[in-house]
Amino acid sequence: MQLFNYREIRTPVFEETALFARGIGELTDIVGKEMYTFPDRSETSLTLKPEMTASVIRAYIQHNLGEQPLAKVYYLSPMFRQERPQAGRLRQFHQFGAEAIGGELPSVDAEIIALAVEIYRTLGIENIALKINSVGCESCRPGYKALLKSYLERVRTQLSEESQKRLETNPLRILDSKDKQDRVLTADAPLMKDHLCAECSTHFRELQASLTSLKIPFEVDGRIVRGLDYYTKTAFEIIGKDLGAQDALAGGGRYDLLVKELGGKDTPAVGFAAGFERLLMTMEKQSLLNIPLPAPLIFIAAADEEGKRWALSQALELRRYGISCELDLLGRSLKAQMREADRQSARYVIVAGHNEITRQQFMMKSMKDGSETPVSAGRLLEEARGLLGHG
Ligand code: HAM
Repeated sequence: MQLFNYREIRTPVFEETALFARGIGELTDIVGKEMYTFPDRSETSLTLKPEMTASVIRAYIQHNLGEQPLAKVYYLSPMFRQERPQAGRLRQFHQFGAEAIGGELPSVDAEIIALAVEIYRTLGIENIALKINSVGCESCRPGYKALLKSYLERVRTQLSEESQKRLETNPLRILDSKDKQDRVLTADAPLMKDHLCAECSTHFRELQASLTSLKIPFEVDGRIVRGLDYYTKTAFEIIGKDLGAQDALAGGGRYDLLVKELGGKDTPAVGFAAGFERLLMTMEKQSLLNIPLPAPLIFIAAADEEGKRWALSQALELRRYGISCELDLLGRSLKAQMREADRQSARYVIVAGHNEITRQQFMMKSMKDGSETPVSAGRLLEEARGLLGHG
């Protein structure tokens, strides 16, 4: 995120419910049935954030982030949605994402998509697909919506119960129904991408040209409609082919009307968010998750009371110089301390007692090969720092 010059933004874990209802859309699943909403002591309705975009825009307006021509922010934060939990779908999960607020050109969309894709590429993740679409704007969407609705009216009674409801509220969402019969019935349905106005069509074409010149493979998928109502023009998803039913690693798009809708100036914007847990699941599947458990470099074992006092002050000294170390705080025997050092995978152990402290001479034992190196008190820090450089 920082390489792309995005700066971190943190927003509160809850907001006033009205923000999400207006921002995401009253008729979406998120607002209609998934939000954790509760009244506070003064009967204000609050909601745990189900996504970041609305919160970021609230902060953008409230704190004048629009003073800069293009505000570029990123986040990593817990989110809450009351969905049916299953693999890759949690009620408290984490998203990382970015928003670029203030730019209307397709080059901003291209940068946001490139940023998202680059994160997976950098981590060595394979088997992903980028799907892009255009969901049009307020001038071309209403006409298309009517067209789609009349097309679906003819098969209304054969649609799933959910899709029949959506026919009234949000017919576009029927296009991404998972129901088999719905899929068959909508196979030849008209798609927004084929009914764009001149402006949306040029924007979409230029975005594709940018992605091609960046050598980012993509697929145009007219069924990417997204579950949030604020999108205009670009909508995209990154699919993880190793994930199960919940296969969206990330999703995003352009939302040119949201800033104004939430009370700010007319400001175009585009962004994306990615599921952190789904990223980890994918990395685990592709054997990319080999993060070593943190272990102390040095364990200072005390042989007696004098050793304990020395260990306590020496540990602080080493830590001040950036060397991680551990010591016994439970009054255990020397033997038990050695076992503990081993359990914690400390790389070296220093034993300190009356004799060592009097002579100012210590033994540094490697836990890997058992070798022992004598070290004088004066050189301890230097030796320890040397170890940092030698895996
Ligand atoms: P979203 O598609 O709702 O978009 O969520 C983005 C990503 O969050 C999904 O692709 C998925 O990886 C992850 N995710 C969503 N729900 C869950 C869940 N229950 N459990 C685990 N992971 C989940 C948004 O939230 C938009 N705010 C994205 C955006 C930013 N659009 C513009 N800017």
